[in-house]
Amino acid sequence: MTHREKVGIDAGGTLLKVAFMQKNKLHLEKFSTHDLAAAAAWINETFPEGDICLTGGKSKLLETHLNGKHALTHIVEFDATCAGAHYLRKEQLSGDGPFILTNVGTGTSVHCVDLEVNKRIIGTGVGGGTLLGLSYLLTGEKEYDSIVRKAEQGVRDQIDLKVSHIYEGAEPPIPGDLTASNFGHVLQNPEQHRVEDILASVIGMIGETVTTVSVLAATQCGMTGVVYAGSSFDSNPVLRDVVARYTRIRDCEPYILDNGGYCGAIGAMLSLHVDD
Ligand SMILES: Nc1ncnc2c1ncn2[C@@H]1O[C@H](COP(=O)(O)OP(=O)(O)OP(=O)(O)O)[C@@H](O)[C@H]1O
Ligand SMILES: [Mg+2]
Repeated sequence: MTHREKVGIDAGGTLLKVAFMQKNKLHLEKFSTHDLAAAAAWINETFPEGDICLTGGKSKLLETHLNGKHALTHIVEFDATCAGAHYLRKEQLSGDGPFILTNVGTGTSVHCVDLEVNKRIIGTGVGGGTLLGLSYLLTGEKEYDSIVRKAEQGVRDQIDLKVSHIYEGAEPPIPGDLTASNFGHVLQNPEQHRVEDILASVIGMIGETVTTVSVLAATQCGMTGVVYAGSSFDSNPVLRDVVARYTRIRDCEPYILDNGGYCGAIGAMLSLHVDD
């Protein structure tokens, strides 16, 4: 590639995402941020002289590995993420109105996204990093793909305490299917728990926490639509299911973006296309 490409790069806490257009088609790549030098080598080789817009917490560090021949700009991570979410949502839902955006990255950030203003409402440290860290502490699993695959085989009933477990047949004042206490059933079922069940409960707790925060933000902003993004949803049906179900139980409408981990990179790329 010798002509000047317009490339958006989001170097996050865990993954580095790249977005660029080729022949009017969006291309997406991801790398681990643990080896920024390897990611930079790919960028230097693929786009030796491109226009690059950087975002994300590791973008300054990434810059030190680039070849010095790029035209570099920076965009604030939250602005990039919101712009990218707008783009993907329009593509996938053909919607244009305001919405709550919850980005479940290494950590989780919740925004009110309007056409003109994007406002960060709140965040929580419970996110994709929690998924990896807690899964490792509890089961020794540290590969993301293995964690999400095993969690799919898991059952949460012995580990998590539902409202219906507490009310035991009586009519509960809130839906019995809500979790009353994540991991709160463990001591009542003190046998060895299956790795699959523990992993399902870890992901369940993360999903329920990010949903609770999102729904509160939606209430505060007078909205019902919640768009979820972030690589934590990649190939992760357990998280997708918990988040979608929990959002609906709370009377909001969920939408989990496909390729939502790339919002920041896409938003950064779009900032270079403003004059096109
Ligand atoms: N191949 C993978 N390797 C590691 N984690 C993965 C992978 N695929 C998905 N994940 C999950 O996605 C999470 C990272 O999501 P994302 O890329 O949106 O965050 P980030 O941009 O790196 O972090 P932040 O925005 O908080 O700085 C990980 O914590 C993990 O749970
Ligand atoms: Mg990120």
